[in-house]
Amino acid sequence: MKRDIEQLVTQLTLTEKATLCTGANAWQTVAVERLGIPAITVSDGPHGVRRVTEMMSNESHPATCFPTASALAASWDVELLQQLGHALAEECLALDVDILLGPGNNMKRSPLCGRNFEYFSEDPFLSGELAASYIQAVQSLGVGTSLKHFAANNQEFQRFVIDAQIDERALREIYLAGFERAVKQAQPWTVMCAYNRVNGDYCSEHARLLNSILKEEWGFEGFVVSDWGAVHDRVAALAGGLDLEMPGPRPERVQRVIKAAQAGELDEQVLDEAVKRLLHVIFQAVETPKDAQGFDVAAHHQLARKIAGESLVLLKNEGGLLPLQAGQKLALIGSAAREAHFQGGGSSHIHPTRVDSPYDEIAALAGEVELLFAPGYQAEPGRDQALIDEAVSCAQEAEVALLYIALPSYIESEGYDRQNMRLTAQQEALIQAVAAVQPQTVVILNNGSAIEMLEWIDLVPAVLEAWMMGQAGGGAIADVLFGRVNPSGKLAETFPLRLADTPAYLNFPGENGVVRYGEGLFIGYRYYDARQQEVLFPFGHGLSYTTFAYSQLRVSAEKFNAPDGLQISVDVTNTGDVAGKEIVQLYVHDQESRLVRPEKELKGFAKVTLAPGETQTVTLELDTRAFAYYDPAYQQWITESGAFDILIGRSSADICLQATVQLESTQQLPCILTRESTIHEWLADPRGEQLLQPLLQQVIAQAGTEFMRFAGDMPLEPVMAWYSKNLPDTPEQIITQLLAELAKRQ
Ligand code: BGC
Repeated sequence: MKRDIEQLVTQLTLTEKATLCTGANAWQTVAVERLGIPAITVSDGPHGVRRVTEMMSNESHPATCFPTASALAASWDVELLQQLGHALAEECLALDVDILLGPGNNMKRSPLCGRNFEYFSEDPFLSGELAASYIQAVQSLGVGTSLKHFAANNQEFQRFVIDAQIDERALREIYLAGFERAVKQAQPWTVMCAYNRVNGDYCSEHARLLNSILKEEWGFEGFVVSDWGAVHDRVAALAGGLDLEMPGPRPERVQRVIKAAQAGELDEQVLDEAVKRLLHVIFQAVETPKDAQGFDVAAHHQLARKIAGESLVLLKNEGGLLPLQAGQKLALIGSAAREAHFQGGGSSHIHPTRVDSPYDEIAALAGEVELLFAPGYQAEPGRDQALIDEAVSCAQEAEVALLYIALPSYIESEGYDRQNMRLTAQQEALIQAVAAVQPQTVVILNNGSAIEMLEWIDLVPAVLEAWMMGQAGGGAIADVLFGRVNPSGKLAETFPLRLADTPAYLNFPGENGVVRYGEGLFIGYRYYDARQQEVLFPFGHGLSYTTFAYSQLRVSAEKFNAPDGLQISVDVTNTGDVAGKEIVQLYVHDQESRLVRPEKELKGFAKVTLAPGETQTVTLELDTRAFAYYDPAYQQWITESGAFDILIGRSSADICLQATVQLESTQQLPCILTRESTIHEWLADPRGEQLLQPLLQQVIAQAGTEFMRFAGDMPLEPVMAWYSKNLPDTPEQIITQLLAELAKRQ
C-alpha cells in the first residue's frame, strides 16, 4: 500500500498525531480509520514468536522455540541465522505479526546479567554480524524487526532506572559498535530503546543516542520504539527521538504531548517526524499479506534441531570419551533430561509447538542398550542427599554417566541477575559424587551464560555446553553425543576461572542508581588478554571430533591504503577421519597507537565444512574500520598509519598463523591543540610541532635538554613563563598567536 506520507501527515490533526505515537494496547499501534491508516502488531522475540491469543492475555499461540541468542552466537554461522530468520518470519506471517521484537544485541559485560541468554556475545563485531544476518533474513520476507535494547542494557539489577556511566570510547567501540554494524548493514525497521540511563539520561529521552548517533550519524531510517514501560516524560522522549511509546494506551501522556505542542514547548515538526517514521514502517508492513495458512511445524522443529546441533560447544573431551560408542551402557542423570530446560524466563518465553525430551532422544539413539536414569537434583532450591546417593548407584551400574545439568530458572532469567556463576550446591555435589565413582562422566549443561567450574572441572573428562537450546535441543544433544552431528560451536563469550576474575567484578551491578563501567573497553577476552589472565575456556574455544590444520596465510597487500581494505586468505584442512566444521577467526593487533588498545580484536570469521582430508581456502575482507579506534578527542574513528598483525586463530587463545601489514592512512585529522595541551601533545601534532619548534629551541637553550624531559607533560604557559628571557612576547600572547596560526592551517 504505497501512500504519500508527507501528504498524509498534513491531513492528520494534532490529536491524531499525538495518539499515533503511543500504542493502542500492549502489542498494537493505533489505527486512524478516517485516513486509512491501519494498526500493526508486534510480538516478542527474539528466538520465537510470542503472539498473544488476545491483546490483554499472557497466553500465546504455539510457535517454534529456537535456541536462544547465546546458543545461536556459538554457531558463528551467519547463514544459519538467515535460515532461522526466514523461519521466524514465516511464523510471523502465519500468526499475523508485523514486527518481531528482536534481536537482542547488548554486550555481555558480566556473566551475571540474568538476560545474557538473550544476547549474542561479549564481542561487538560478532554480535553485530549475527544481528545483521537475523534482521536481513526476517525482513527479506516482509516482516519487521526491533533491534534491542539500545543501549547498554547490560544488567537486570535496577534495569528500569540504573545509570550506566560509560566513557565515550567504550561506548563507541564496545556498547554501540554492534548496534552500528547491524543498523548500517541491515536497517532494522525499528530499534527498541533500553530502560536504563546512559551517562545521566534515560535512553528513552537520549537525544544524543537516538537523534544524533542512531538517526543522523548512522542513517537509521525506521522508528524508535520504547522498551515496554521505558518512557518517563513523553514530551522529552519525543524531542529525544523516541517515536513510539509502548505499551498503550496512555491517554494522559497523549494529552501532555498535545498541550506541549499547543504551548510551543514541543516543536510540532518533531511530532511530524515521528509520525512519518511510523507511517513509513506501518505501510511497509501491511504490504506483506499475513495468510492464516499456518507454518510447517515439523520442518521448523527440524530446523530448530539443526540450529541447536550447530550451537552446542564441546568444551572438553579427554581421551575421546565422546562420541559415545554403540553398545555402551549409559546412565542418564539429571531431572532436566526429562523436563527439558530449553529457554529462559521473561518476555522471550515461547509456547513451543512441541518439546523433545533429552531422555527420549538419547534413549532412541542408544538403541538396544538399556538407559538407566536417576533425577539427581530437584527443580527447587535445597539439598537432597538421597537423590545424590541414588544417582551414584545408577552411575556405578553404567559404563558412562551422562550428567544432565540445567541451571534452574530461579537462578537465571530476565528480571534478575545471577548472584554468582556457580551451579546449585546440589548440582555441584552431584557431579563430584558421580565423578568419584564413574571416571567416564560427561557433563551436559543447559544455561544461558558462562558458569564457574572450578569445583568439578578436573574430575570429569568431558563437558558439552548445550545452552538454552530450544524445543528441539534434546534431539540435538543426542545427535552430538552419538556423533551423528560433529560438534562445531565455539564460545562467543569467555568462561573465566572464577567470578572475581571477571572484568566488571568491582563495578557490577552498581549502587545508588549508578553503575560505573570502570573497565572501559576491556570486557571479555579484551580484558583477560590485557591482564594476561588464565581463563577456563577462552573466547572462540570449541572442540570437534575431527582435527583441522591451518596453512598458507596470504594477504592481498603488505602495504595498503586505509580506504581500500585488505583480503586475507588461509587454507584449512580437515586432518581427521570424520567430516566437520571449523570456525576460522581473524583478530587484528595494532603494534603501536596513540591511545591504549586491546591486545587483539576479532575482525573477521567464517565457518567452513570439510570432508576428511579436504582443504578449503577461506577468504576474509577487512575494511578500514577493522583497524580503527574511536578517539573521543577527535570525536571520530581514527585509522593510524603503522604496522598491524593479522592473527588467525582456532580461538582467541590459540593463534596459529600470523602476518604483518603496513597501513598507510590517508585520513586528515583536524588539529585539536588548545591552551591546555602539553608540550608532548604539541610535538605529536605535525602542524603544532612545526610552529612550536623555533620557540622551544629558545626555551631549551635556557633550560637545558634535561629540563624538557620534566616539562614534556606540562602545558606551554608555565614553561614559557619560567624561561621567557628571549621570547618576543608574553607567554599568553605567544600561545594566542600560535593557536591563531594553527587555526589558519586547518
Ligand atoms: C523487554 C523487551 C520486550 C518487551 C515486550 C520488555 O520487558 O525488556 O525485550 O520486547 O518487554 O515484551
